[in-house]
Amino acid sequence: MKTILVTGGTGYIGSHTTVELIQAGYQVIILDNLYNSSREVLKRIQAITGVLPKFYEKDLLDPAALQMVFKENAIDAVIHFAGYKAVGESVEIPLTYYQNNIAGSLNLYEAMKEAGCRKLVFSSSATVYGNPQSVPIREDFPLSTTNPYGTTKLFNERILEDLCISDPSWSVLLLRYFNPIGAHPSGLIGETPNGIPNNLVPYIAQVATGKREFLRVWGNDYDTVDGTGVRDYIHVVDLAQGHLKALEYAFSHTGAETVNLGTGNGYSVLQVKNAFEKACGKEIPYQIMERRPGDIAICYADTAKAKKLLGWNARYGIDEMCRDSWNFQSKNPNGIEKAQ
Ligand code: WQD
Repeated sequence: MKTILVTGGTGYIGSHTTVELIQAGYQVIILDNLYNSSREVLKRIQAITGVLPKFYEKDLLDPAALQMVFKENAIDAVIHFAGYKAVGESVEIPLTYYQNNIAGSLNLYEAMKEAGCRKLVFSSSATVYGNPQSVPIREDFPLSTTNPYGTTKLFNERILEDLCISDPSWSVLLLRYFNPIGAHPSGLIGETPNGIPNNLVPYIAQVATGKREFLRVWGNDYDTVDGTGVRDYIHVVDLAQGHLKALEYAFSHTGAETVNLGTGNGYSVLQVKNAFEKACGKEIPYQIMERRPGDIAICYADTAKAKKLLGWNARYGIDEMCRDSWNFQSKNPNGIEKAQ
């Protein structure tokens, strides 16, 4: 049985990936500092899989802790989710983002190197494409970032590509997520944003539960089907399964590969709102506001490389994504409580 270290494994995507890993027969160890999650997620993972993953409440900024984890466990590969991820916050506190997302990651890569663990799947983001010149977006499109969060993702990609050039025995998959939404069909795990949600679907879900009064639609004057922003929403379970395919590829290849994880379909803000209304059976009131600074009009993935290289494609559509998101939200109106 192969052992996988999942950093950030009590987070939104990390917890869903942990469930899929356990159900695929892997042994999972989670390392998380619980900054944006809680130990309750471990119990939820156990409720779904029957397995309580080994857990280290440690911080990537503690190199000694990382060395200890690799000393105490024979780790075959790492899936690296841990990191700060709020675009707006990264603009306000860039040094915190560079320290955590870059220095923290470097500590992890050093610990892996020292332990001879050279298989890594990295959580990157479509945000590295900036404002694409056309859609669908291919992995070989120009890269440019417009905020420190996106830049930390791009820098990690470059660091890992250089590492693979320096030591061809490494195998690194750089997965560029589009817009992850939805939740595990059990409704036991899902997205629990801190404070006021920045992202569309968690905000809509809170309007549906009455926690928020109405949805603010950031602009309806884009050159899109209905003037509102278009994005490639992907079910978090599809995304998790994409990580398992990436892991399989890492175990049978070396070198670095970047892969888009999206559906290849774009939906507008109003189309998502309508799909969520269908899922929850309630009207989602909204108001058209000014554009949000930094937003782009349209973003969706070219999925050919994921299919060809990993043999993976997304299976869930927007209706299932909204159904599962609403199922989680209605069962957890205040999300999964965070570490005190
Ligand atoms: C989607 C659309 C908004 C909220 C961000 C990060 C990206 C990735 C995914 C980490 C846009 C509109 C949103 C609201 C709205 N995160 N919107 N009202 O901006 O595409 O991507 O999350 O990797 O890095 O940039 O996602 O959900 O914030 O916005 O009208 O209350 O919904 O304008 O068109 P985004 P989003």
